[in-house]
Amino acid sequence: MSESIAMRAAELREQLNYHIYRYNVLGDPVITDAEYDKLYRELLALETEYPELVTSDSPTQRAGSDLSEDFPKVQHPAPILSLANAFSEDDLRAWEERNLKLLPAGSALQYTLEPKLDGLTIVITYQNGYLTQAATRGNGEMGDDVTANVRTIRNIPLRIPVQPGGPPAPERLTVRGEVLFLKKDFEALNRSQEEAGGPLYVNARNTASGTLKQKDSRITAARPLTAYIYSVVQIVGYELDSQWGSLQYLRDLGFPIPPHVDLYPTLSDIIQQLPTWESRKKSLNFEIDGVVIKVNDNLTAAELGYSGKDPRGAIAYKFPAEEMSTKLVGVTVNIGRTGKVTPTAQLEPVFLGGVTVVNASLHNYDQIAKLDIRLGDTVIVKRSGEVIPYVIGPVTGARDGSETAILPPETCPYSGDKIVQIEGLIDYFCPNPLCPERIFRSIEFFVSRGAMDIEGMGPQTVKTLIERGFIQDEADLFTLRREPLLELEGFADKKVDNLLASVEAAKSRPLAQLLSSLGIDGVGSVVAGLIADRFRSVDALMSAAAEAIDEIEGIGPVLAQSVVDWFADEQHRRVLEKMRAAGVKMEAEAKVVAGESLNGLTFVLTGTLPTLSREQATELIESHGGKVTGSVSKKTSYVLMGDSPGSKADKARQLGVAIIGEADLLNMIGGPTQQRLL
Ligand code: IVH
Repeated sequence: MSESIAMRAAELREQLNYHIYRYNVLGDPVITDAEYDKLYRELLALETEYPELVTSDSPTQRAGSDLSEDFPKVQHPAPILSLANAFSEDDLRAWEERNLKLLPAGSALQYTLEPKLDGLTIVITYQNGYLTQAATRGNGEMGDDVTANVRTIRNIPLRIPVQPGGPPAPERLTVRGEVLFLKKDFEALNRSQEEAGGPLYVNARNTASGTLKQKDSRITAARPLTAYIYSVVQIVGYELDSQWGSLQYLRDLGFPIPPHVDLYPTLSDIIQQLPTWESRKKSLNFEIDGVVIKVNDNLTAAELGYSGKDPRGAIAYKFPAEEMSTKLVGVTVNIGRTGKVTPTAQLEPVFLGGVTVVNASLHNYDQIAKLDIRLGDTVIVKRSGEVIPYVIGPVTGARDGSETAILPPETCPYSGDKIVQIEGLIDYFCPNPLCPERIFRSIEFFVSRGAMDIEGMGPQTVKTLIERGFIQDEADLFTLRREPLLELEGFADKKVDNLLASVEAAKSRPLAQLLSSLGIDGVGSVVAGLIADRFRSVDALMSAAAEAIDEIEGIGPVLAQSVVDWFADEQHRRVLEKMRAAGVKMEAEAKVVAGESLNGLTFVLTGTLPTLSREQATELIESHGGKVTGSVSKKTSYVLMGDSPGSKADKARQLGVAIIGEADLLNMIGGPTQQRLL
């Protein structure tokens, strides 16, 4: 063994002991659990290979302790052990192989699979069915007596069995579980912090821990903690022979056992379930950081014994880390097409959820202030699934005083205009519609796949065209000419031809697509479809009153006004006129005319019709010359009513408007055969 290996082990010991102190004594960790695990595993690996390196102060020689001065101590009836970790399928297979070697030849192992709840351990004792004591894990031998606090946790039975018909309570029972905040309760807690103007809580588990260790149990009671119970530590007066049996028994006594627990006949079955658990993680209403796999048979588990402080019969499979800490080295300012200012964090590179992350969202300046995030801070960054990574909050304990406040910019970095905050909104804006960055962002959006879908017109091309003065707005795209384009670097014949062909094709996009590409606030593809259907041309929309738009079902007054305001804007009108002149289609396709029998009649639909969907009924009425509106008035000719009608039927009766059914409608247009026209 070289000297440097011994030095590395000493260094790891020192670092780990420091982090254990920060976590357990100060309650203010400066690295994430995943980072701690990584250091711990490195030390464990060194010590396994070179056992002579193990010292009595090595963190591997003790379980962590969370004992505090504030509570009396209680002795656990049996050691409250910890779990070894696995990070891959191979780790799990190796674990089973090691175990099988310790058991008689031919042994087969069954396993339970449980969520690894990201909370803190609680140990609760019942005497003849009455809750008599609750303690934290402490150092595994002794814990803090938090009985008064645990009594406030609403889903923990104070007396068992909870149900009259349940099995009788054993003489003595000590159970182990996890205390945590449900995601919704943690969010609600932060909402009330926000209302009270207090700092937001960053981490649910640390907050749960702080809540459980309150000296005043009224504070604990005021915060909605939840517990799940997953094992029996000791039982007198009843026998349990498996983990699966224990879970069933606990459930029958009235304990909240973790959701989705199951029993599997082999380790391969468990491994098959891992992807399901990873994707389920997000939809669970509590945080998990992995799953726990336990040998089901109690005798076998006991026979396997312990390795250090970990039972060999159980293992935690941890998901790849989603949270890491790193340094916030800068903040860049992005200006969107609406002028909205979005701050983005520049980070020291950090490996997170399988990729290296250097940028993360900081949401907005309001959030930065509430979380008190400062430039130069060590911050916790989270990335889960496909979402953009974001900064959860600062590690205040890691500050050295050199950190500085992050404030919104005074002026727009692109246009130089003064940045403004609109009353009632938390966001800041560049107010200048001619800001070059805003123009770039709106054209970039206009040509993008979800919008006008102009193939070959990527952000870089848009940028070049703006820089070279070829385009100043969306409409200029439609008058691009071949020769000048050919002079641009990298624009060869073929590329230019393709680009011009896709611009040409975009001129005849459906009206709804054009509308949803304009970047009108609140007008995405669904709303654009509704508006296009009703107004059928840009001209009609330009002269529409807000009330007329508001009448469309699914559109409210605020949205209607935003549409009217957009079309009233001089600059927007100029761009639309330029588009029209360039040959961009501004009308909807003519509707199929199937007849004129409903000419001049206005219908309102309510309830579920026997065979026609709402859309089909509307199309049928309109194709026969009728109109469909959203609300009943004296001008309504008929209310077309189906099953479970709403208040519109009552209104019709009040106003004396005729109510008809689907069959009546079909008769009016000449019988059911007409339906086939659809
Ligand atoms: S069993 C000897 N089951 O994870 C039995 N622990 O990393 C050890 N945990 O200290 C515990 N969910 O606080 C077990 N379903 C579960 C668990 C679970 C969360 C916690 C527990 C333990 C830690 C180990």
